[in-house]
Amino acid sequence: MTSKSDSLTITDNRTGTSYEVPISEETIRATDLRQIKTSDEEFGLMTYDPAYMNTASCRSAVTYLDGDNGVLRYRGYPIEQLADKSSFLEVALLLLDGELPSKAALEAWEKDVVAAMPVPDHIEKFIEAFPRDAHPMAMLLAAIAALGANHPEAVDLTDDAVQRTQIINIIGKIATLGAYLYRHSKGLPFVKPDTSKGYSENFLTMLYQDDKGSYTPDPHLVHALDVLLILHADHEQNCSTSAVRSVGSSQVDVYSAVAAGIAALYGPLHGGANEAVLKMLRRIEGGQSAEEFMNGVKEGKERLMGFGHRVYKNYDPRARIIKKACDEVFAVTGVNPLLDLATKLEETALADDYFVQRKLYPNVDFYSGLIYEALGLPAEMFTVMFAIGRAPGWLAQWYEMIHDKEQKISRPRQIFIGSDERDYVEMDAR
Ligand code: CMC
Repeated sequence: MTSKSDSLTITDNRTGTSYEVPISEETIRATDLRQIKTSDEEFGLMTYDPAYMNTASCRSAVTYLDGDNGVLRYRGYPIEQLADKSSFLEVALLLLDGELPSKAALEAWEKDVVAAMPVPDHIEKFIEAFPRDAHPMAMLLAAIAALGANHPEAVDLTDDAVQRTQIINIIGKIATLGAYLYRHSKGLPFVKPDTSKGYSENFLTMLYQDDKGSYTPDPHLVHALDVLLILHADHEQNCSTSAVRSVGSSQVDVYSAVAAGIAALYGPLHGGANEAVLKMLRRIEGGQSAEEFMNGVKEGKERLMGFGHRVYKNYDPRARIIKKACDEVFAVTGVNPLLDLATKLEETALADDYFVQRKLYPNVDFYSGLIYEALGLPAEMFTVMFAIGRAPGWLAQWYEMIHDKEQKISRPRQIFIGSDERDYVEMDAR
């Protein structure tokens, strides 16, 4: 029960009336403010919070993030430990079910996901219909929606077994789609997944297999890719996850909800930042001096991409782990020549008042692009990699949302600032 001290007393100075609003989990319910009004006809007080700067849209048990202290945990487990000891598919199952699986459960899950990797022939044709220079994220967005058209049973949200199948299907197929989009852009034939191989190994093989079938990915690269996918797997209520939850709250099928997440991730302020970082580094490498670039950033002409975060006001813990993964990858591929430039930009930024005062630190995207590039991927594919990694997080959050009795269709309020009622003006009188 809420004690007297677990409440907020609000006095409406318009009327002198005081209201007591319960505080629970350091939060007040926005709807508790509706009782505050000056007359019965009024709607009642609302909160105005563009971009949800201070509004919790759900109660979630999936991911904990403490941005001030640089802490990230999936289901209670620190990201550092998961990146060190776990695999991407184990983390996916952890996010979905809440517990680390037994050996047998993990093996069964890995088998199910890999078995779900092949995509239907008509989806291959669908991808082939795109121009070769179409952006892979635009193709991925369309391909996931197209996949949903193949699963009319997915609309039945009450059947847990059906929904589990869709979840496995999406995690399995999104990697195959990612590899196919790359091959399509390059004009190469698709390489089908091999159910005897693991997830990340399959992905690299589908990307780079040659016509003699002689490509075998280096185990260090397979491991580094797995770590990158783990780091991207969830990040609580970020822009794309909120999009998945918001669209999913209409009780649409999960493929459509995930397509909404992909659309949100595509933007340069979200998942598209890793691609933007590489383009920025290339521009500086190509002639613009780093000093001139940084001055432009501080004058507000542009942003240092891969820096800053809505929640992290400290070093993003994922950025630290990625720096370590860089070493593992570069030991195999040779050092990405842009690493030096990125490191110098980071040092300059972290010593500069502009960045210090605003608490702007490198985020996950500052270094991830360097690794993806070393793995042989073009910049346009980087956000696709993010989407493959983020799929389990979207699905875990979506699943939590559809089972949350407190959730309803997402529908924010507005403060109307438009014109008052006025009469239609005939064309010849305008
Ligand atoms: N470079 C230069 N200045 C920046 C940057 C940046 N990267 N990020 C924020 N600022 C400044 C901003 O101009 C503002 O300054 P002032 O107070 O003088 O107006 C202040 O810092 C606060 O910025 P904000 O835009 O109010 O912060 P936000 O929480 O709305 O934005 C962000 C967060 C991630 C969109 C932003 O930091 C940004 O645009 N970063 C670059 C893009 C990027 O790397 N995105 C990837 C995010 S991590 C992966 C993911 O989860 O998607």
